[in-house]
This record gives sequence, C-alpha cells and structure tokens, in this order.
Amino acid sequence: MQPRKVIIDTDPGIDDALALILALGSEALDVRLIATVAGNVDLDCCTANALRILEAFGGPAPPPVHPGCARPLGRRLARAKHVHGADGFSGAAERHPVRRLEASRTDAVTAILSAVRENPDEMTLIALGPLTNVASAIEVDAEAMTRLRELIVMGGSFGHESNVTAAAEFNFFADPVAARVVIQSGLPVTVVGLNVTHRAVLPRARFEALLREIPSAVPARRFLTDLTRQYFEVYKRQRGIEGAYLHDPLAVGAAIDPQLIASRRYPCDVEIEGELTTGMLVVDTREAAVEDRSNVRVATAVDAERFLTLFERALRTAAGTPTQKV
Ligand code: BDR
Ligand code: CA
Repeated sequence: MQPRKVIIDTDPGIDDALALILALGSEALDVRLIATVAGNVDLDCCTANALRILEAFGGPAPPPVHPGCARPLGRRLARAKHVHGADGFSGAAERHPVRRLEASRTDAVTAILSAVRENPDEMTLIALGPLTNVASAIEVDAEAMTRLRELIVMGGSFGHESNVTAAAEFNFFADPVAARVVIQSGLPVTVVGLNVTHRAVLPRARFEALLREIPSAVPARRFLTDLTRQYFEVYKRQRGIEGAYLHDPLAVGAAIDPQLIASRRYPCDVEIEGELTTGMLVVDTREAAVEDRSNVRVATAVDAERFLTLFERALRTAAGTPTQKV
C-alpha cells in the first residue's frame, strides 16, 4: 500500500516531538511537510525543536519545516512551559543544537495550501497544536482546503476532564477562535481529545525498557532520554502516575491505523468567549443531533495496547533499531 501523505502542524513540545518521531518511523506515512505554530512555547522555539527532531530522526532527506503563526487569532498567548519546559524540550534543547538544517522561507499557511492544491484529495493534515495555521489557511482559501482527505486534530475533551481550565483543553484554549473556524469549516475533521489520550498512558517502565534496547552509542537514545526525563516527572507530580500522556502521538496513530480509535459524528462547536468556558469543545449529543450529518467525528474510545505497540515499533524504527515494520 502507498503510504498516506501527511502534513504535520505542530508546536514541539515533548509529545509533539514523540508524535513526529512516530510519524517519521512509520512506513504507513509519508511526511510531506512540517508546519510550526506558537503553542507550548514561542514560534521560533517550536521551529528550532522541529529541526532538532529532523536532525536526529529525519534521515538523509527530511521534510521541510515551515514556520507559521506566532500569535493566535484574537487572543493573548497561552503557553505550557510548566509541562514542556522553557525550551519546549525539558531543558534538553541546548544539548542537541541544530547544526545542519534550516527552516524554509515559505510560511506554513502558504506551504499547507500549496501541498493540498498539488495533491488534491490525498493529503491528510494532522494538527497537534493550536489551530492558528489551519484556520488561517481556511480563511485564505477555503476552497483549496476542501481538497484535504482528512484533518485530524488533537484537541478538546469530550465528556471528560480538561487540562487548562475546568472546561478547556490546551490547544483549543490557546486559540479558540481558530478552533471554531476549523470545527465549523465543513471539512472532514476527526477530533482526538483528552477523553481518549488520557486512556492511552505510556508506562514509564515500558518506555525505559524500550530505551535500553537502543544501543547507547546510537544518538537517538540520548535524545529520547533527555527529552522525556522531566515529562515523566511532571506527570508523577501533577497526576500521580508513573507514565506519560501521548496526546499528539495518538493523533498521528489515528492516521497510521484508523482502527486505533472509535469515533462518532456529532455536531460540535467551540466556545470563544465564555466566562468560565473559553476554548471548550461543545459536543451536541442530543438525540436529534446525532444524525450522520456532521463533518466532525469525535474520538470516543481507544485501543491503548494496539497504540502502544505501534508507538514502540515506530520508535525502534526511527531510532535505527527496527524489529518489525509498522
Ligand atoms: C496538547 O497540549 C499540548 O501541551 C500538547 O502538546 C498537546 O498537543 C494536550 O492538551
Ligand atoms: Ca502539541
């Protein structure tokens, strides 16, 4: 089977980094371009982190990195440095300087639109950060964006707790206006929210066992160790778990293997100016609304073991120690 052509829009971020590594290590995906957006950290930092990942895991012909929007549409900046560190990489960025690669001069919105126009009905866009670039692309040329095959969005939470406020998940909170544009766009959107990502925790012991399989001389091992050390600590402190959430990798997983998640069409919207609820994903589950007419599929369940197995295999491949193709 031909690999699925994907654009990854991202704000690396630790789980974004793991998602990129998963995508690069999967034979099922052909990563055509990476678009960066301000989110977990500032745009320049996200762009540099994307380049870092490509230098370590992108092989001889890595996809281009296109810097995108530095500010959300009509909202103050929100950051997640308490989870990802000031550099987005748990303080590990400095130890892995960008030596070889440079960001493209073409901005992310232009690059996304060109890629979709050049590959009508073939391109899947996986959005792992605030939806500013994606919404901007829709605003610039909605017609072109209708030629996307699928738009997979990590964001929101359906019938489950949130992580920035009581009502809002980070990516939707960081740019609710953009999230609303995307959800209301009519495009074939799949929303992968916290209700599923919280049910696919990566156990720390399992990840450490995987790292031990990678020979210590392989640079990827040090990169992965540095990248994740504090991430596990944060979850231990904040959530009392010996593991880490793989929010963004699960959205990539859904592109690799659609059977990883179950989903259902619901009419949805995003709150943009609630006193307590800004950035909330609003899912209309009323019986009359649950007809097959919505453009939005909301993930409702995940096969966690199938996902973790896929994740481990792809990481081995990306690190150069494959046991089996994904
Ligand atoms: C999302 O927020 C970010 O901090 C993560 O990278 C992920 O995309 C989870 O709410
Ligand atoms: Ca992210």
